[in-house]
Amino acid sequence: MLSEKMVSKLNDQIGVEFFSSNIYLQMSAWCDSQGLENCASFFREHATEEMTHMHKIFDYMCEKGAMPVIGELAKPKDNYATIHDVFEEAYEHEKFVTSTINDLVSVAYEEKDWATFNYLQWFVAEQVEEEALFGKVLDKIKLIGTGGESLYFIDQEIGTLVGAEAEA
Ligand SMILES: [Fe+2]
Ligand SMILES: [Fe+2]
Repeated sequence: MLSEKMVSKLNDQIGVEFFSSNIYLQMSAWCDSQGLENCASFFREHATEEMTHMHKIFDYMCEKGAMPVIGELAKPKDNYATIHDVFEEAYEHEKFVTSTINDLVSVAYEEKDWATFNYLQWFVAEQVEEEALFGKVLDKIKLIGTGGESLYFIDQEIGTLVGAEAEA
């Protein structure tokens, strides 16, 4: 049985994962509007992945006999100055998500809720991967720079990552 506090924190995380999905879906739309098709596909894929994270927590709560409650979601930002800003914000957002997962793990530990503590380890590992992925992409974008054809090269580079996670 999950404690009231644990249920409330897991519900919050459902909101975080849902919001992450919406952020990336909106980023995908922005990329598409800029003709950055591969970047759009990359974010579209990532939006789907965040939904699977949401479902994971949702399913876990149901399995433990608690009712997940979906809260209000904020509107994601829909305008960016550059593709650099998009990836910068995505990376910052992943770091924020890591902090919410860490917080959740701390609550499970404090409450001696070892089942949830154990369940959350998957998310701990996932966040290591997510931060590494976005950090790597950002490094490449910085390397490519902002010269004349940089947008083309950035989109080409991101294209190599599309579908990569599904295969992993
Ligand atoms: Fe996530
Ligand atoms: Fe993520």
